[in-house]
Amino acid sequence: MPVQIGAPAHSFSDPTGLLSDCHRRIEMFLGALEAVASGGGARLTEEGARSLAAALRYFREAAPKHNADEEESLFPRMRRIGGPEAAAALARLAALEDEHRWAEPLHAEADRLGQRYLAEGRLTAAEAEALRDTVGRLAAMYREHIRMEEEVVFPAAVRMLAPEDKAAMAREMAGRRRAGG
Ligand SMILES: [Fe+2]
Ligand SMILES: [Fe+2]
Repeated sequence: MPVQIGAPAHSFSDPTGLLSDCHRRIEMFLGALEAVASGGGARLTEEGARSLAAALRYFREAAPKHNADEEESLFPRMRRIGGPEAAAALARLAALEDEHRWAEPLHAEADRLGQRYLAEGRLTAAEAEALRDTVGRLAAMYREHIRMEEEVVFPAAVRMLAPEDKAAMAREMAGRRRAGG
């Protein structure tokens, strides 16, 4: 699967739009992991290895910044502003944070197995099964997690956040990218 990030579709004036752009990358790289994991541990092709390495790197380096954007820049502002019209979104935030934590050991396991695959060029049947299971559980979680953020949380944030909140959030997001990728 060709891996291309390309220019973001949204700008820093639209921080929740940028978060949605990140979701498209999460989905793309999960798809790459699923494609590699569906091969049953057979010898990796050159393209498969490139795709796997890019996806593992994304989930190691970039995806944690997305979680920080939400947990440190977006959710606290929403909690501070509060208000009854945002109650449905606010009620979801703790569960979303829990899902970020829930995914961490699964990402670590996918990374461990994926690195092994890259090093060895193939996986045993048991390792291949573990990789497929791990990636499948992550993909199932992210489908619902992303839907909840994009259908409930981000629309509420767009309504709640003042332009200066959005600007401050965008500055923090840009700072996270400057601080090492
Ligand atoms: Fe999230
Ligand atoms: Fe997200």
